Amino acid sequence: RPNLKMDGVSGLLMDGVSLSTIAGKVGTPCWVLSANTLRTRMQRLSAAMQQIGSEVSIHYAVKANDHLAVLSLLRQEGAGADIVSGGELTRALKAGIKASDIVFSGVGKTDAELEAALGAGVGQINVESKEELEILSALARKNGKTATITLRVNPDVDARTHAKITTGLAANKFGIAFEEAQALYAHALTLPGLAPVGFSTHIGSQITSAAPYRAAYARMATLIQSARSAGLDVSVMDCGGGLGISYCTETEGQPEALAGAIKAELGHLNLKLAIEPGRWLAGPAGILLSTVILRKEHASGVPFCIIDAAMNDLARPSMYDAWHGIIPLSAHEAAGPVAPAHVVGPVCESGDTFTRDRDLPSLQRGSRVAILDAGAYGAVMSSTYNTRPLAAEVMIDNGTWHIIRERQETEELWRHEIVPSALT
Ligand code: LLP
Repeated sequence: RPNLKMDGVSGLLMDGVSLSTIAGKVGTPCWVLSANTLRTRMQRLSAAMQQIGSEVSIHYAVKANDHLAVLSLLRQEGAGADIVSGGELTRALKAGIKASDIVFSGVGKTDAELEAALGAGVGQINVESKEELEILSALARKNGKTATITLRVNPDVDARTHAKITTGLAANKFGIAFEEAQALYAHALTLPGLAPVGFSTHIGSQITSAAPYRAAYARMATLIQSARSAGLDVSVMDCGGGLGISYCTETEGQPEALAGAIKAELGHLNLKLAIEPGRWLAGPAGILLSTVILRKEHASGVPFCIIDAAMNDLARPSMYDAWHGIIPLSAHEAAGPVAPAHVVGPVCESGDTFTRDRDLPSLQRGSRVAILDAGAYGAVMSSTYNTRPLAAEVMIDNGTWHIIRERQETEELWRHEIVPSALT
């Protein structure tokens, strides 16, 4: 977590910087990221992976927070990128990440995206189906390229996380069925334009215990040994992402425990290993600042605190019933008594709710709050629903803060709209 400290005079400080000052100058809603937290988390993850003893590369899952400043910072700390679209490819390259440090994942890559990846020379493409294998082979031949690939295997392991972010069950759309993987790998080795090097897997997101990882990697180890016994070369295992954080009372996923699971199940197989973490790196590094527009009293006795951030900014509570900490910026409010309140956005949907019946300090019109752990799957999932411009973003680095994304102007929202002349 960024260093959040309540100061009697300045209110809530993040890495020593007054969040009220930022809110006052930049306005709300506004995302604030801690460069220091991103850095120290990347360093802790790298150190944990070094315990495995084999080479482990870290490919940051760009989807979690794709801001160029985040990508550049993580690149400086030694991360490559895990991408899932042509857009993320362009972004990662723009941030200075070498093509050879980029892994391309995803269940439906278009021909144009695959050709862009081949053209750029991405380090590895994780193929998710027999169909994609054939398409990629043809595209590689057509472009005179060889694609280094792994097969993404669906190990049919329950990650015990939210259904919408579980990916490693047989019923999910992701990956190649475990039972078919070896035969398909053998087939891939015969296809022109492809250089199969091994396997990948990703069982889901927000995983806080090592047990599902161990189960998945144990299955992958069986597959790798079986493929090798059949004379197939396997040198790479991409262990996926998914390490969870503590939003509420859960214990944060421990990089050391993940490293332990990898080491225990795969460490003896002389593999080049990789992981694709997103949330664990970026989630705790970011908050969303918001202002209470008004406090609406209700017959039930539980007020609605209507804030100027909404589901279009941070979608997680409405999409996954996710819990995010909410704390006032004012020291006075934070020290006051708590009472149940609903915190909601102004969007015209009941789902636009950040929390219900939560014991919170008394928030009044004009009160400012920080919504915590919003650095991953926050700004990246924003929309402009209700013609709400995308919020500003700020990064605090070494005691100074920088605007890293200007608040979108309303006029930008219709820049690409065309009104047929008969209607004007
Ligand atoms: N690798 C692959 C192939 C993935 O699909 C994902 C995430 C990751 C890595 C990174 O997972 P992470 O380390 O961030 O858990 N919007 C949802 C999360 C969706 C995750 C999608 N895939 C949320 O807000 O909870």
